[in-house]
Amino acid sequence: MAVKKIIAVVGATGAQGGSLVRAIINDPNGGFSARAITRNVDSDKAKELAKLGAEVVAADVDDVESLKRAFAGAFGAYCVTFFFEHFSPEKEIAQATAMATAAKDDGLQHVIWSTFEDTRKWVPLSDNRMPTLMGKYKVAHFDAKAEANEVFSELGVPTTFLRTSFYWENLIYFGQGPKKGPDGKLAITFPMGDKKIPGIAAEDIGKCAYGIFKKGREFIGKTVGIAGEHLTGAQMAEALSKALGQEVGYNDVSPEVYRAFGFPGAEDLGNMFQFKRDFEQDYCGARNPDVARGLNPSLQTFAGWLAQHKSRIPLE
Ligand SMILES: NC(=O)c1ccc[n+]([C@@H]2O[C@H](COP(=O)([O-])OP(=O)(O)OC[C@H]3O[C@@H](n4cnc5c(N)ncnc54)[C@H](OP(=O)(O)O)[C@@H]3O)[C@@H](O)[C@H]2O)c1
Repeated sequence: MAVKKIIAVVGATGAQGGSLVRAIINDPNGGFSARAITRNVDSDKAKELAKLGAEVVAADVDDVESLKRAFAGAFGAYCVTFFFEHFSPEKEIAQATAMATAAKDDGLQHVIWSTFEDTRKWVPLSDNRMPTLMGKYKVAHFDAKAEANEVFSELGVPTTFLRTSFYWENLIYFGQGPKKGPDGKLAITFPMGDKKIPGIAAEDIGKCAYGIFKKGREFIGKTVGIAGEHLTGAQMAEALSKALGQEVGYNDVSPEVYRAFGFPGAEDLGNMFQFKRDFEQDYCGARNPDVARGLNPSLQTFAGWLAQHKSRIPLE
């Protein structure tokens, strides 16, 4: 039997990494095997991945030596950082640098770096249409990831730069699901006007990433954007209404109002949605669902995702 190419997956117990581990395991004849990286090999989620057939290995993205050990002998790696655990763009850059360094040191042949646009190319810091955050960012969790692109390139790591989209799971876990307004009616709230948000089922991110590893060399050095579907807030509300069997409205607020919501990261997300709104063509254009479907033929639409997950959306 041919030796399988090992893909070391950072964030394996999370959304992006977990979906890639499952995609690899669900294709036993695909020629790849999954090495799931976690800080705690004894957690329930880590044990679940081991049960599915992943090799589970400990490493911390704050510790480059642990990453070198975890990437050793692998063919490739999936690299992702976790902005919403610490809200520090500098930490994201340091963690991405550690992953790129380990990938270089271990001679990996294909790395996927989960990244975004540098929004400052569209909205320079001097542009006051949105506030500058932390002194040097417009959308910190985008700009920092984009800065880290250069680290992978400068170290000569064979990298595919993967631009992901808004997870529809945010409606379940991230407090972005329908909420009752003062009128007692359910509504989703985004500062998007009538512009479209590229969205995706988190599980499809890993399937697309797996498609990139399978296609291999043609994607090295390339930037690939993925989405399941591009939908306006009103279209999302309509699909939610149909799926939930009760009316869900779309509450269009201004980015200023969104930034002032006060939850952790609200300013960054307010700027992010404003960027998506004001540069809809560029942002949607960089995330073609047909490209994603080419990588992952089972790519879900929002309605398809809702049919499976609607009961998990918390309703007040
Ligand atoms: N929410 C969205 O709509 C969206 C869309 C696109 C992109 N993103 C980006 O996605 C990124 C997060 O990815 P995700 O959603 O897949 O994360 P996630 O589901 O929150 O999972 C994070 C996993 O990473 C592991 N982890 C955390 N800190 C670590 C560390 N220091 N070293 C090693 N592992 C660590 C944790 O596993 P253990 O506890 O097992 O170690 C955890 O299970 C963010 O940077 C965000 O910007 C989010």
